[in-house]
Amino acid sequence: MTGEPLLRARDLVKQFPVAGTAGLLRPARLFTAVDGVSFDLHAGQTLALVGESGSGKSTTARLAARLIDVTSGTVHLEGRDITALPEKDLGEVRSTIQVVFQDPFSSLNPRHTVERIVTAPLIYQKRQIPGGSRAFAQALLERVGLDPDWVGRYPAQFSGGQAQRIGIARALAVGPRVLVCDEAVSALDVSVQAQIINLLRDLQREEGFGCLFIAHDLAVVRQIATSVAVMTAGKVVEAGERDAVFGDPQHEYTRRLLAAVPRIRPEWEAARRRKAATR
Ligand SMILES: Nc1ncnc2c1ncn2[C@@H]1O[C@H](COP(=O)(O)OP(=O)(O)OP(=O)(O)O)[C@@H](O)[C@H]1O
Ligand SMILES: [Mg+2]
Repeated sequence: MTGEPLLRARDLVKQFPVAGTAGLLRPARLFTAVDGVSFDLHAGQTLALVGESGSGKSTTARLAARLIDVTSGTVHLEGRDITALPEKDLGEVRSTIQVVFQDPFSSLNPRHTVERIVTAPLIYQKRQIPGGSRAFAQALLERVGLDPDWVGRYPAQFSGGQAQRIGIARALAVGPRVLVCDEAVSALDVSVQAQIINLLRDLQREEGFGCLFIAHDLAVVRQIATSVAVMTAGKVVEAGERDAVFGDPQHEYTRRLLAAVPRIRPEWEAARRRKAATR
């Protein structure tokens, strides 16, 4: 891809202090969760971060959205370095990059109506709500395939899939250029997963946002990703176009990851077998 990426991450490092077992004299140890990660995300692109549990996917996403601070490295959002921005300037970042999390219920306030939930990002940023709060919330619900009359309901009155649609509606409220989905469909049934993936794809076609999509399930990734970055132990070991990475994995770790999934797509399986036979 050419042109300025929406999101450019370079050499991201995140270290967490690890609680020592004994004694104040022992220096605090550091655990490196993300260890030199770089990637570009362009408009209309869906970059999937894949890798085993604990490989640093969520930490990378949180760094990219400036939900946590980097130990070192840079994140440029639409050309601007957001890693060093003071707290007071983060409102603009929140309007540009939004995050959808894994568990819809724990990310929706159970005591707030849907109207209040989906308009919260605008109110938090002290922005005018075009057309008024209720009409705006209704329009958002319609866009994510929910009945607009449900704006007065509470989260407990929804199914998991519906609740995740509300999470997506809230993310869309500010008109983000980048959407980060951290295991956003992982807690859902397979059929509901497919519906949410279709919704994300439709919304992306309409809005043109870039999507950083984190999932451990490669069958889900194959449905939505245009590019893939494979992570293990805090590092990206392989990255590229989805079909190239899945069809002809270069790194041993990627091969093992794919081998663990029973036949995610027959053509890729066939391509891999042919390669393996000639290697
Ligand atoms: N706040 C924290 N303090 C200490 N260690 C952390 C913290 N957040 C994450 N880690 C550690 O960093 C590593 C990477 O975690 P991360 O959540 O990024 O993994 P992940 O790839 O998203 O895994 P999963 O697929 O299970 O969600 C893990 O070993 C985790 O224990
Ligand atoms: Mg995670």
